[in-house]
This record gives sequence, C-alpha cells and structure tokens, in this order.
Amino acid sequence: MSATILDGRALSKELTAQLKAEVARLKAATGKVPRCVNIVIGQDASAASYGKSQKRAAEEIGIDYQFTYLAHHVSQKELLDQIKFLNEDPEVNGVMIHKPVPEGIDFQQAVNALAPEKDIEGMGTGNLGRLFLGKTPIIPCTPASAMALLALSGVDIAGKDAVVVGRSEIVGKPLVFLLLEKNATVTVCHSGTHRAGRLESHVRSADIVIVAMGKPAFIKGAWVKEGAIVIDVGINNVNGKITGDVEFDAAAARAAFITPVPGGVGPVTAVMLMKNAIETFKQQAGRP
Ligand SMILES: NC(=O)c1ccc[n+]([C@@H]2O[C@H](COP(=O)([O-])OP(=O)(O)OC[C@H]3O[C@@H](n4cnc5c(N)ncnc54)[C@H](OP(=O)(O)O)[C@@H]3O)[C@@H](O)[C@H]2O)c1
Repeated sequence: MSATILDGRALSKELTAQLKAEVARLKAATGKVPRCVNIVIGQDASAASYGKSQKRAAEEIGIDYQFTYLAHHVSQKELLDQIKFLNEDPEVNGVMIHKPVPEGIDFQQAVNALAPEKDIEGMGTGNLGRLFLGKTPIIPCTPASAMALLALSGVDIAGKDAVVVGRSEIVGKPLVFLLLEKNATVTVCHSGTHRAGRLESHVRSADIVIVAMGKPAFIKGAWVKEGAIVIDVGINNVNGKITGDVEFDAAAARAAFITPVPGGVGPVTAVMLMKNAIETFKQQAGRP
C-alpha cells in the first residue's frame, strides 16, 4: 500500500479562505474584526519568527494581531498586571503568552490568569477543564490541527483503536480527550512505556497513530499496521533538515494515510489559532 498524503499546506489554504470569509461576514455585521495580542517576554529570536508567521496568517484572514513586548526581567506580578489589563480591555478579544518564557516566570499561572473567553491557545485550566468535559469551542491549536488532518482522511474514527505517543499538556493529553469525543478507543504511550517491545506492539495494533515525541524517526515504518492513519506531530531539526517522529517512507509504504513533515500538522496549527481568535470574538460579541 502507498499512503495518501494528508496535505497540511493545502488544508491550511482552504481553512484560511473559510476564515477570511467569516471575518468579512463578522465585520459587515459588527463593524469590527477580531483583535488579539501576543505577549512576548524578552526578545527571543525564535519567538519573533514564530510570531511573525502567526501575524502573517492573521493578516491574511483579516484579524488584527498585535505584540505586547515585556522586558526579559519582568516580574510575575508585572506580567499578571498586564494580563489583567488585557482581560479588561473590551477591544481585545484574544490573548496568548509566547513560549518560551524566561526563567522565574510561572507560565501556567500566567495562562490561568487569562480570562477563559480570551485564552486563544486554550491552555488555561478553564478551557482545559471544558475540553475534559467535551464542552469547549477553544481547542489547543496543535491537537486541533492533528484532528483536522485526521478528519481530512474521511475515515470514521468511531470504534477505531487510536494510539497517542506523547502525553504533553500541549499535544498528547488534549488529543486523548478529542479522540474519546469521537468514540475512538485510546491508548497513550509515554517514556514510562519502556517494557521491551511494548511501544512497538501498541503501534502495531493501532488503526490511528498520532505521534508527538520530539524524537526523529523513532516510530519505525515496519511497526505501522497496513491501512493505518499516521499523524506525525514531531518537528526535529536533523543536520538542518526538518523531520518528524515517524520513519516516513517506510510508514507511507504501509499506511493508508500519512502526514508529511514538514507540510503536515505544522501549517494547520497557526490557522487553528486564528480559528480560536474568531471564536473568542464571536463569544464576546454574542454573535453565532
Ligand atoms: N506541528 C506543530 O505545530 C507542533 C506543535 C507543538 C509541538 N510540536 C512538536 O511535537 C513534538 C512533541 O512536542 P511536545 O511539546 O509534546 O514535547 P514534550 O513535552 O517533550 O513531550 C514529549 C512526549 O514524548 C514522550 N516520550 C519521549 N520519549 C519517549 C519514548 N522513548 N517512548 C514513548 N514516549 C516518549 C514523553 O513522555 P514523558 O511524558 O513520559 O516524558 C512526552 O510525553 C516535538 O517535536 C515538537 O517540536 C509540533
């Protein structure tokens, strides 16, 4: 079998066009466009380049996207004061805090201080709690991207055996709840899945494999079940080349669908942030 590629760049273009039309509709109805703010602490170069690509995505869709820069030595209290100010600003619909943050800053405490209806990354406990209950429209962006690519396969997830490799707060754990919502049977693997051959045997039995480890080509193509769907979230820089966590060619020879790296989950993630920014705007404007 040779897998169909789940093309993140094409999906990103399609979603961008849909969101652009939605912003135009909201602008016509309210006279306003969604406005979001990215709090960047210190002058981190990678934050700047990732932030720039988000800004480009926002501008294409018609979202007003601004940066608030705080000094590297900002205190936790000053950060919380800034968050309070943005929470109370009726002209700001969405706020995010750029990672990484300098040592001494408690990121999760800061994210939890965001008003849940402005938390566009969906990483505060309010939105994560709603995700747990299956009741949030604000889904963390990378898991949302993985689920959108899974949906692109057209395969009904209900009743399928899904294996998630990785249990980070930002990717693996939210995915568990999103897959459960779709009635998949979910197994989660992590560094504690260390008994010899256990990771391999879980992957071998999976209809759907979603990998977010940060370890290049760790998941061997030979482990992938014939006809499985493989979503590779990993981004690894190996000698200047970006690769995923799955051995792509060998996996593609067995899978029915697979995401490439680059060009899979990554391009859809920034669009999902914009989708959340539109959702928070709609909630605040009381518009469906
Ligand atoms: N495409 C995108 O938009 C996007 C967004 C975010 C992240 N990423 C990429 O996705 C990857 C994962 O990111 P992350 O933030 O989730 O990373 P992370 O916080 O480092 O989590 C990695 C996970 O992999 C598990 N793991 C590590 N070694 C393992 C092993 N030998 N066997 C089984 N599980 C193992 C860890 O288990 P423990 O929990 O036991 O330590 C952990 O749960 C990275 O490459 C990152 O760059 C991509």
